[in-house]
Amino acid sequence: MAISLASQPTLRWDGDISGSLWMIDQTLLPLEFREIECRDVETVWEAIRSLRVRGAPAIGSAAAYGVVVGMQTISVDSDAAGFAERLVQVTEYLATSRPTAVNLFWALDRMKRVVAELDGSTRAKIERLLKEARTIEIEDREMCAAIGRHGAELLEDGQGVLTHCNAGALATAGDGTALSVFFAAAAAGKRLHVFADETRPLLQGARLTSWELTRRGIDTTLICDSMAGWVMREGKIHAVVTGADRIAANGDTANKIGTYSVAQLAKVHGIPFYVAAPSSTFDMSLASGDEIPIEERAREEITCGFGKQTAPDEVAVYNPAFDVTPAELIAAIITERGLIRPVNSRTVVDMIGA
Ligand code: MRU
Repeated sequence: MAISLASQPTLRWDGDISGSLWMIDQTLLPLEFREIECRDVETVWEAIRSLRVRGAPAIGSAAAYGVVVGMQTISVDSDAAGFAERLVQVTEYLATSRPTAVNLFWALDRMKRVVAELDGSTRAKIERLLKEARTIEIEDREMCAAIGRHGAELLEDGQGVLTHCNAGALATAGDGTALSVFFAAAAAGKRLHVFADETRPLLQGARLTSWELTRRGIDTTLICDSMAGWVMREGKIHAVVTGADRIAANGDTANKIGTYSVAQLAKVHGIPFYVAAPSSTFDMSLASGDEIPIEERAREEITCGFGKQTAPDEVAVYNPAFDVTPAELIAAIITERGLIRPVNSRTVVDMIGA
């Protein structure tokens, strides 16, 4: 178990165009650290669907490599039409894995675009797809670092900060978005105390965030989601930083269920609520958060989490995996290009473009 994320990335490609995608199986953490190999597109789809790989930027990277894996089955003699047909099949299939994180669709569009106008052999096209997937991964790493640099300026030495879900290295190809801010602040000599919300129902905060932070030597305290308001009231939290799965053109932000409640609590207690996200998480085609599709997941995640039944079979269950925090509750969005502050349609367009 003494493996650090620095030596073991969340996902990696092994080999050339006939290689395979490897990823940490996050459903096993923190008890077991194991990588899985994805040699076919169905395995990539299942890994995204069941949250073996999760977090918006990591889903985008996994899907990009998933396209390469999916195209490996095509014959080298196939013509341009056959290649195009298989590419549509693979990308449309991967697009059905999860609905909310826009990075998935952004990455698939990017993969389709780079070969759309490309003449050449099937091999040359798959090589181009692999190059693009690698570029998406590298860019993601750079975006995380830049988000860390911009966000660290918002935090002061000695502060208590709260985060929800996991927006760390496990959710990206780099150091994370929200957690990158904490790592950069710590590297700049600021001593932070991070409170990690447990994040019901799948416990990404408990299983993943507290695992990452403690491994990186960050002073961390795990709390149940229902404790956040009280801990704020006790004066222990001075800022909240979360990630995002999709941000609409007006700044409304979808993130893990429970984020909206945290943002409301922060407002009541006069605490700044920050969102850290790369430009690839913005969906400028949506005017507001009302249009963001919210994933609903299986009832068993709530009634029978981690194999132990905790509710009667006959009870009705509602399990939205994300919620939307309105722009007016967000003090700033920390992007790789800089801070969006205040957050509204004009400032978002100024930073991201139309
Ligand atoms: O369901 P998940 O675990 O994929 O949800 C992840 C989140 O909500 C993260 O906060 C978000 O994707 C940002 S990751 C940098």
